[in-house]
This record gives sequence, structure tokens and C-alpha cells, in this order.
Amino acid sequence: MNLKQTFKVQPQGSLQGSIRVPGDKSISHRAIMMGAIAEGTTQVKGFLEGEDSLATLKAFRAMGVTISEPLNGSLRIEGAGLRGLQAPQQPLDMGNSGTAMRLLCGLLAAQNFSSTLVGDESLSTRPMKRVTEPLKAMGAQLELEEGGVAPIKISPAQLTAINYSMPVASAQVKSCLMLASLYVDGKTIISEPAPCRNHTELMLQGFGYPIAIIGNRVEIEGGAKLKACDIDIPADISSAAFFLVGACIAPGSDLILEHVGINPTRTGVINILRAMGANIEYLREYNAGGEVVADIRVRYAPLHGIDIPVDQVPLAIDEFPVLFIAAACAEGDTILSGAEELKVKESDRIQAMADGMATLGVLHEVKPDGIIITGSGGSLMTGGEVDSKGDHRIAMAFTIAALVAKEPISILDCNNVATSFPGFAELAQSCGIDMQVNES
Ligand code: S3P
Repeated sequence: MNLKQTFKVQPQGSLQGSIRVPGDKSISHRAIMMGAIAEGTTQVKGFLEGEDSLATLKAFRAMGVTISEPLNGSLRIEGAGLRGLQAPQQPLDMGNSGTAMRLLCGLLAAQNFSSTLVGDESLSTRPMKRVTEPLKAMGAQLELEEGGVAPIKISPAQLTAINYSMPVASAQVKSCLMLASLYVDGKTIISEPAPCRNHTELMLQGFGYPIAIIGNRVEIEGGAKLKACDIDIPADISSAAFFLVGACIAPGSDLILEHVGINPTRTGVINILRAMGANIEYLREYNAGGEVVADIRVRYAPLHGIDIPVDQVPLAIDEFPVLFIAAACAEGDTILSGAEELKVKESDRIQAMADGMATLGVLHEVKPDGIIITGSGGSLMTGGEVDSKGDHRIAMAFTIAALVAKEPISILDCNNVATSFPGFAELAQSCGIDMQVNES
């Protein structure tokens, strides 16, 4: 039986020094997927050696792709070409990763072999019709469990082009359909209702695949080739976000986060924190393999509540758990609306955060599409025991909350932190968080 991890975090402290968080999870998945179907050898550095992206790596090995063992974030993929994947002998286990399952579903729907995608308890409750419906409209042969959840059984099919307007601003749906469209004879058009992360578009272009981006739509014709290239993956802004917020709220903090990806489709967290009064500075901005990167300096500053602009929601979609902690420390109300998607992440993130915040004495009101958090204006939260509900980002958000608590905070069920942020506890300790990981 696997031992369950509990984080025990001592109250207060400040964040100091210069740290680099692990590689971007979204880009790591895509690097494996596109490297695998490219022609030639793709050299990757900065790869996230977390459980989610390793699940993707294992899936492609199970389809016959040679991928070297990652070493300090570096690995080599021997591309099999667009038609070079082989039928996997077993169901492909995507673990906790929605990105791995949804993107792979698009790629596998277009293959000439059958496959099955499975996931852990959390992933097996998450909605999959958002990808299977448009894929079926392309002619895919897919079967879900009752309730529209995984396992997903995929049979061979020849797909046709569609013109699809996505009902939600989901990069996973967009990317799933883009990968499927590589195999289609004709032009697939995908429109997004609001901008969401564009790593698939940028990486396809990096692999020399012709696509057109016209306003809010992407147009792709199938049948061209991906040519292997080198990929330098920046540090994940979604992981950096925990320390960004920590330094904003812990008096005396002055922290540098190195080599962080600041692609504008990911920087909602910085835009929101700055609107709340944060002191965040880009020390140098540069380009790393098509993605914009910066060293970020963040210093403590008193925050105030804001009405979060709805257009920032998809740009900060993974950062809300820790943004709620920022809101809990701010002066006045922070209002989040238009954020229903948070209910179908690795947990119902609005409810999971509301439950933990209730324990810590943070005033809030859950709304059907968001939450209102009444900040303490700098007075300390209580401590106590909170449940991460097995969600990595909830666990890390409450770790950061301890910086502004009166008493220690214990966080239950933290094993899944390893899905996105291996080494979180050690890195947190190195810059000023007094925490212990207990197993029982
Ligand atoms: C991701 C897209 C987002 C995000 C997820 C990673 C991606 O999901 O929450 O962690 O890599 O495309 P949605 O696109 O479903 O919002």
C-alpha cells in the first residue's frame, strides 16, 4: 500500500533568494507528443520529470517510440514520423493527467490501431465528452463509460476535417483537435471563445508544420511533416505561482524566480496580482525556442481585493487555488466569476479551497460560477488541518497560506504534488518555508 503524505508547515517566515522551479508541464507533454511523431531526433532540455509528463513519456514508449531516460530534464526522442506509432499492448495509463488523456485522445483517434486510455480515480471522473464529441464529428470511433468519463476506448478511423467553435476556452480541447487534424485530408478550423494557452500552435510551428492563426481561429491542413528540433522548456509559471504569491503576502520577502515562461496566454496570475498591488518585476526577458521567458523578481507588498476580469480566467486557470490565498490576505473583497471550469479540474477547486479556507478562518462565499473572498487586510489566518482532496495545487496553495497563519497548517493527501512539482518541499524549504513531509 502507498503511504499517504501529509505536509506540516510552520507558520510565518519570508521568501528569499533565487530559485528555479521545474519545467513547464503543458510544454513537456507536447514536446514528447510532437517529438514522437516528428521525423528525426528531437533533443529536449528543461523537461518536467513529474508523474504527469512521465505518464505521457511512458505511453509513447509503449507505442514503440525510443525515448532516452530523462536526466536532469534532458532527453532525446527518436521520432517515428506521423504514421510510425505502433499499437500499444496494454491500456495507456494517463495517471492524474487531463492534458495527457485529452491530447492523446485526439492523436490516437486518427491511428490505424485500437487503443484504450485509462486514468486514476480523479481523472476517471473528469468530463471527456468535450473532446470525444468534436472528434466523433470528425469521424472518430470512440467509446466512453457512462457519465462521459474514462476509460476511453478508441478504434481505428479515417478522420475528416471540421469547422469547430469550442464552447469553452480549453487549450486541451483545442490541442486535441489540432493533433487529430494532422491526419486529416483537408482543412480543419478550430475557433476559441477566448484566448487560452497556445503552446501547441507555437510548438507545431517550431517543428516546421504549417498552420494559420487568424484572430481567434487556427487552421490546419493534414499530411505535412513535423521536422525534429531542439526544445528548451522554460520553468512552469503555474509552479512559480506558489512562490510568487508567497513572496507577495509574506512581509520582508524578496525572491527571484529564474527562467519562467511568460507566454502571454499564461500570465493571468501576474496580471491579477499586479492589479491587486503586487510588486513584480521582469529582470530580463528573452526568447527560448519560441516561448518568452523571464527572471521574475517579486517583493512583499500589501494587496487589495479586485473584481477579477473574466478575460483573465483562462489565462490563470491553474493558478486560482493560490490566488485565493492572495485574496485572503488582501484588503477588501476579491470577486471571481465565470470560473465554472475550476469545478472540473483535478478536484472541484472552488469547493476544495472553500473548505480549507473555512478551517483557516477566511471569510468567503461560494457562487455558482466562482467565489467572493473577503480578505483580512494582512491579519493572520488561524492554523489547522486541511484536506488537499488529492489535488496537487490545493496542497501547495495551503502550504503557502502557512506564511500568513498564526499556527501550523497540516495538509492531508499530498502525494499528487509529485504530478507537477517534484522536489516542491525541498525547494520551498530552501527559500524560507519551514515544512516537513510526513508519511503514514
Ligand atoms: C492545459 C490546459 C488547461 C490547464 C491544464 C493544462 C494544457 O486545461 O488547466 O492544467 O496543457 O493544455 P483546459 O484547457 O481544459 O482549461
